[in-house]
Amino acid sequence: MRLSVIGCGYLGAVHATAMASIGHEVVGFDVDADKIGRLAAGEAPFFEPGFDELLRDTLATGRLTFSTEPSDLAAAQVHFIAVGTPQREDGDGADLRFVDAAVQGLLPVLSEGDVVVGKSTVPVGTAQRLADIVAPTGALLLWNPEFLREGFAVQDTLEPDRIVYGTADPEGPGVAILDEVYAKALAAGIPRLVTDFSTSELVKVAANAFLATKISFINAMSEIADATGADVTQLADAIGHDVRIGRRFLNAGVGFGGGCLPKDIRAFATRAEELGHGRALRFLREVDEINLRQRNRLVDVVSEELGGSVAGRRIAILGLAFKPNSDDTRDSPALDIATRLHGLGADVISYDPEAIETARRVRPHLTYARTADEALAGAEATVVVTEWEQFRQLDPETAADLVADRLIIDGRNCLDAGRWRAAGWSYRGLGRR
Ligand code: UGA
Repeated sequence: MRLSVIGCGYLGAVHATAMASIGHEVVGFDVDADKIGRLAAGEAPFFEPGFDELLRDTLATGRLTFSTEPSDLAAAQVHFIAVGTPQREDGDGADLRFVDAAVQGLLPVLSEGDVVVGKSTVPVGTAQRLADIVAPTGALLLWNPEFLREGFAVQDTLEPDRIVYGTADPEGPGVAILDEVYAKALAAGIPRLVTDFSTSELVKVAANAFLATKISFINAMSEIADATGADVTQLADAIGHDVRIGRRFLNAGVGFGGGCLPKDIRAFATRAEELGHGRALRFLREVDEINLRQRNRLVDVVSEELGGSVAGRRIAILGLAFKPNSDDTRDSPALDIATRLHGLGADVISYDPEAIETARRVRPHLTYARTADEALAGAEATVVVTEWEQFRQLDPETAADLVADRLIIDGRNCLDAGRWRAAGWSYRGLGRR
């Protein structure tokens, strides 16, 4: 099939490439000429495991092209909208400028029988509004929310947990056309749910709200654990054995960040308020607050361990990305903590295996190390804020020879406390005294 994907960020670039890899003819479109140039040259503009190889191999088939020219979209029959919906600058709601611009940009190339498929995360009510805008061209609109995780984007795109189509016409041709696009995944038995527009929009934000709530729940428990001398990791293991609860997304630490969970829960709560049902989602404000409090808690722990002030103290920060296997620092707890400690006068040096360049772009005033060892050299406190495998595997004996003081603060509760203590380190986690 001939497809276009509008917006070539983490979501769109991977979607375009994955769809071409399974046999479709795909044009990836973005207004950012630099990004398009790099993608067309087979160079991923962001770090995503497995994406470089998939991009190069798929470009070689000739089925995948990239363009900044709107007229190049005309050959496609199905147009995916994969642009960002960031938080508005003037509030907590979603900024729909890019989605609206994408739809407006498509109108001149749409004709009878074409299908516009929204993948971006949008406030409930958006799909119907856009369907009305598209209708006069004779094209159809469906909503097909995306659930991919950064770090697993390729795998999640090729083998999603489920596929959801939101449509005003479940019996209409749009469903059959999307079934053809996703034929491979459907043949593999991946569940497909056909819903109305509102449900499809809500599925996405409800899923992210649930995940955020789960993380804030365990972080709230970590606060109580700290107050009572309990261990939140053991608590999570124990409650996680109950299959109704499950152990995943119960890792306490500096909390969630990234380009999705934080802005999605704020936009969802805001949308509920607009609908006159703010009370229903008021708990999401609390989820947000618990999450942000974890960053303060970590800064307080560092300060406490350094005798009450971080000013002038050498602190190694291990991690900048919002999670491992990503170079994304959007709303990253790790980068926020490095910035705050720097702001408090600490001599902060940060290291991340992939996210230094993205961090440097937004925080050029911070100091970055070229290696983990360089960050550790002379550190009076070592703070792990992103649980990269490289940091989990750090050898406490070797690290001890580099630092000035054996003080490790595990902001992701990802280290083996016993091993670090056995090597003479003072270990602190969150909720893990
Ligand atoms: C999230 C969802 O998991 C995806 O399903 C969704 O498609 C995506 O948002 C989106 O809306 O586009 P992502 O932002 O890539 O994916 O990252 P997650 O793996 O969900 O992690 C989010 C944050 O939660 C990270 O900062 C991570 O460190 C943190 N986290 C996760 C915890 O603090 N504790 C946990 O136990 C798990």
